[in-house]
Amino acid sequence: MDLHVIGPLASPAERAAVDSVLGPPESGWVGGARRPGIDGHAASGGHAIRAKRSQLLPALHAVQDRIGWISQPALNYISRRLAVPPAEAYGVATFYALYSTRPRPPVVAHVCDDIACRIAGAERICEDLGRAVGPAGEAARDGRVGWIRSPCLGLCDRAPAAMITRAGDPATVTTAAPVDAAGILDRLEGATVTRPPLAARQSGDTGLRLLRRIGAVDPGSLDDYRASGGYTALTRALQMGAEAVIAEVAASKLMGRGGAAFPTGRKWAAVASQPAQPHYLVCNADESEPGTFKDRVLLEGDPFAIVESMTIAAFATGASLGYLYIRGEYPEAEARIRNALESARTAGLLGPDIAGSGFAFDIELRRGAGAYICGEETALFESIEGKRGEPRNKPPFPVEVGLFGKPTVVNNVETLSNIPLILEMGGEAYAQIGTEGSTGPRLFCLSGHVERPGVYEVEFGATLRDLIELAGGVGGGGDIRAILLGGAAGVFVGKDSLDMPLTFEATRAAGATLGSGVIMVFDQTVDLVDTLRRIAQFFRDESCGQCVPCRVGSVRQEELLARLAAGSSVRSRDEELVLLRDIGQAMRDASICGLGQTASSAIESALRQPELVTL
Ligand SMILES: Cc1cc2nc3c(=O)[nH]c(=O)nc-3n(C[C@H](O)[C@H](O)[C@H](O)COP(=O)(O)O)c2cc1C
Ligand code: SF4
Ligand code: FES
Repeated sequence: MDLHVIGPLASPAERAAVDSVLGPPESGWVGGARRPGIDGHAASGGHAIRAKRSQLLPALHAVQDRIGWISQPALNYISRRLAVPPAEAYGVATFYALYSTRPRPPVVAHVCDDIACRIAGAERICEDLGRAVGPAGEAARDGRVGWIRSPCLGLCDRAPAAMITRAGDPATVTTAAPVDAAGILDRLEGATVTRPPLAARQSGDTGLRLLRRIGAVDPGSLDDYRASGGYTALTRALQMGAEAVIAEVAASKLMGRGGAAFPTGRKWAAVASQPAQPHYLVCNADESEPGTFKDRVLLEGDPFAIVESMTIAAFATGASLGYLYIRGEYPEAEARIRNALESARTAGLLGPDIAGSGFAFDIELRRGAGAYICGEETALFESIEGKRGEPRNKPPFPVEVGLFGKPTVVNNVETLSNIPLILEMGGEAYAQIGTEGSTGPRLFCLSGHVERPGVYEVEFGATLRDLIELAGGVGGGGDIRAILLGGAAGVFVGKDSLDMPLTFEATRAAGATLGSGVIMVFDQTVDLVDTLRRIAQFFRDESCGQCVPCRVGSVRQEELLARLAAGSSVRSRDEELVLLRDIGQAMRDASICGLGQTASSAIESALRQPELVTL
């Protein structure tokens, strides 16, 4: 395969950006072009090619970060250096929303207009920016700045939110919330605003387990982490041995917190027993479900706990390399994790001989690039491997054939944060917390019309009413109209569900879901039709497009809602609702992955309850 590309050469700055990730090119490269006949991918065994290809996203990030967009010559240079066909590299670059293959100003505000932010005034902000800066997506003020709309930034507790990307060397990404148009304009013009330190909503509550260090222990200090009990669980794990660790996790009956609620002990045992080598561990920190921000709080506020938990998980399952895949919109969390990884490495808590035990393990940090679908575990593998985030068919399951085709454990951030607790108190004792079918503590993300939005920790079994009261009740003394449970892929419930215990079993019996722990409250002032249309738009935008039911169904669903809202349909309302249900059924039955299977859940649940919304 000849990868030689004729055309303009990448600029020195573009090449420098790529080389900062890939290292200087081997001899034989001339000015960023490959001399015909001298191939940049001479060492092209299958393994070497796969390893190179997995550098594709980091290389694209480097150009996007430093230059502000990815030009065709820059893309060609990356293609040649990584031996990736240019068409495939283009396919990857155009898949991810945080990359731009068209000129983009160096400073861009990504303004969240998703569900929590729009009920906090996001549309007004967008209108103001439109007047002050110009239309979304266009360069303004001599090409220096611009703004675009963004899906949920994981800052719903402080809505409305924005993220500012500033290209250069070094590039910076910052978030701002709550923010108004004037605040965004200031930041576009270079103002830097220090973010207030992370504060726990339940600070002072001595019963906290998962959140006990948030706002109380310096997240930048390994010494402080150790002084607060950190790394005692790893020491215990190394003494107990891998099998005993898995036995404790199984005894705890811990279920995954990423949405699918799979038993963690069973997953770990399955990977540990696989003969194929190596085994990989992936921490899923892609948290992009609208309304979800619990993992961000853990990553920002207790990063060493994630690193320690990953190390224990790797020890138990025989993994020698771990990946922490963090969404690209979490710059502050990424910086904290990066620091934690470096500190742990320096202290011998990551690397070839962890704590003198002979156990070797390290963690690579990978940054997502703005694709909700990459939270789906197999799409995440594809992304790490340098491909478009398109989910794989299952089976085979990741425990057998996962990242790079090898046995892989994938766990959510919150799931992992339970591991030290389980080893400290013992699996049996942990299983006494919560209910029979839902053990342990659980984090919930309260947002929308509550008095004190934020992340709250309770034991499984607390009711929806308990959580809303913990968050101070409905803001401004308003009255609840609807509650979105579980995120955009979840369901709407009404006030009659306030006494529902928030457990896997009770929500399942009620036809609801806990999903990623979202509880978004809407009072009587909210235009729920607008909310439903934004949810439909979200799924249309985020569908990877790989399978027809989801690619077409998510578009048809959005069009149908628009027709109903505008009263422009040639069908009767009842006929439209039947059609909507048919579309939802087709997506549930025939989509490859959970995105398509749940894309209609929230919308259908709302329309089933005329007291919540009428169209
Ligand atoms: C569309 C989609 C998005 C997902 N996003 C996430 C996510 O952001 N974080 C996460 O942990 N799991 C997410 N999941 C679930 C993962 O596929 C997987 O089940 C989970 O990471 C396993 O970890 P757990 O067993 O600890 O929950 C998503 C699933 C789907 C279908
Ligand atoms: S269901 Fe949607 S997101 Fe999932 S693979 Fe199919 S097209 Fe992609
Ligand atoms: S940050 Fe805007 S909806 Fe979540």
